[in-house]
Amino acid sequence: MARFNLEINGHQQTIDADPEMPLLWVLRDLLNLTGTKYGCGIGLCGACTVHIDGSATRSCQTRVATAAGKHVVTIEGLGITGLHPVQDAWIAEQVPQCGYCQAGQIMSAAALLAQNAHPTDSDIDNAMAGNVCRCATYFRIRNAIHRAAGEVRP
Ligand code: FES
Ligand code: FES
Repeated sequence: MARFNLEINGHQQTIDADPEMPLLWVLRDLLNLTGTKYGCGIGLCGACTVHIDGSATRSCQTRVATAAGKHVVTIEGLGITGLHPVQDAWIAEQVPQCGYCQAGQIMSAAALLAQNAHPTDSDIDNAMAGNVCRCATYFRIRNAIHRAAGEVRP
């Protein structure tokens, strides 16, 4: 057990945890930030995606010790001053079905747009390839990313 200072959604948090504990468990079980979902636990589905220093990162594969001292943003903090443009686009395109994967999808999409303001279909498919949706909302996800990028497609 060790003490860690984490910056989560712009707030400093001090927690006691095993250094090997995945960030996902810290978020969900210690900080009650349950918007980040547990899917596979082995880095294959993307449901647990958060931003660490601006990069889309699988929190199930990230040790809490690795996240200490870095800027962590979860779905709860993405639109901290109102909905993020990606969230607005998700609503406009009515993307979610069951919704389970969607926090991870949105976090990956927001990270993509922060690095590439006008992604092509191919850019989107590459960036989102690690985010699995068992409801197959992929077409709406792609449209929502274009909408958020200001390239609304009918
Ligand atoms: S729960 Fe982390 S990638 Fe699936
Ligand atoms: S909306 Fe159901 S898994 Fe993606």
